[in-house]
Amino acid sequence: VESRPVVWVSQPLIDAVIEPLRAQVDLVTTDEVTAWTPEQLAERLADVDGAIITLNERIGAAQVAGAGRLQAIANVGVGYNNLDVEALSAAGILASNTPDVLTETTADLGFALLMATARRITESERWLRDGQWGQWSFQTMLGADIHGSTLGILGMGRIGQGIARRGAHGFGMRVLYHNRSRLPAATESEVGASYVDFDALLAQSDHLVLVLPYTPDSHHIIDAAALAKMRPSATLVNIARGGIVDELALADALSSGGLAAAGLDVFEGEPRVRQELLALGNVVLTPHIGSASLATRKAMVQLAADNLLAALGVVGEASRMPS
Ligand code: DGY
Repeated sequence: VESRPVVWVSQPLIDAVIEPLRAQVDLVTTDEVTAWTPEQLAERLADVDGAIITLNERIGAAQVAGAGRLQAIANVGVGYNNLDVEALSAAGILASNTPDVLTETTADLGFALLMATARRITESERWLRDGQWGQWSFQTMLGADIHGSTLGILGMGRIGQGIARRGAHGFGMRVLYHNRSRLPAATESEVGASYVDFDALLAQSDHLVLVLPYTPDSHHIIDAAALAKMRPSATLVNIARGGIVDELALADALSSGGLAAAGLDVFEGEPRVRQELLALGNVVLTPHIGSASLATRKAMVQLAADNLLAALGVVGEASRMPS
């Protein structure tokens, strides 16, 4: 009798998607959100054939050194800087991620953060709840316009293109972008964006959204020198990975008038958020919720499960999410 593959699911995900997998594989699940240590990860991976994991789990050579049976890791997320892909392929382990299914939901959040930041939504609410609203005033919470302004996008993959479409077609913005490679002209005109170099993007954007992958090349690409090239009236939004921005330089720019405001969904040391950022009123902070709509999170888990079963050579209807 052939034994069934054993699959570890690192965090509570979506039961309606995960539970049906028991028809095909032996699942090891957890009921609690867990901060696995590097050693615990190595232990968990030691005797399984596959794993469904999240950005919390950092997996490299040390975690798979003793994982003799491990064939595949499915990352529930599009970003995969938590995986040392080179070490995994050297160990013969297939890694997968979940692109496409979260594009529009994450672009929505990018736009929500841009609007909340430019129009000082959360700052206004704190002020109101604090009982500071004495009388309607002409000068209260003056922010920056979104419609008709210049939107800059750094990183023009799927999510960047979704943000460009929203800005160009929904809000009449002039959209500029910078990316490692330029988009084909037909795509540029469909999404409504024009290519500029990095310095021009910094200098011309009223609102700059970061949507590029986190790699050694993009580490702190937004540093003090880059921030100094931005307009003092500009807003910065980061929905990619925290390490793209030098957070101390950003806090300095925000407190010294070098930059008007920032909207941050991601942080370098998350879930820890720097005191220097928490102390500022002109920052909107959200806990890495870019893809967090119920429908999208279901689709992400379904895609990760499908990726994993395919990599393990298990295919079947029973893995499909009930509609
Ligand atoms: C992603 O998909 O990369 C998000 O950050 C959540 O995992």
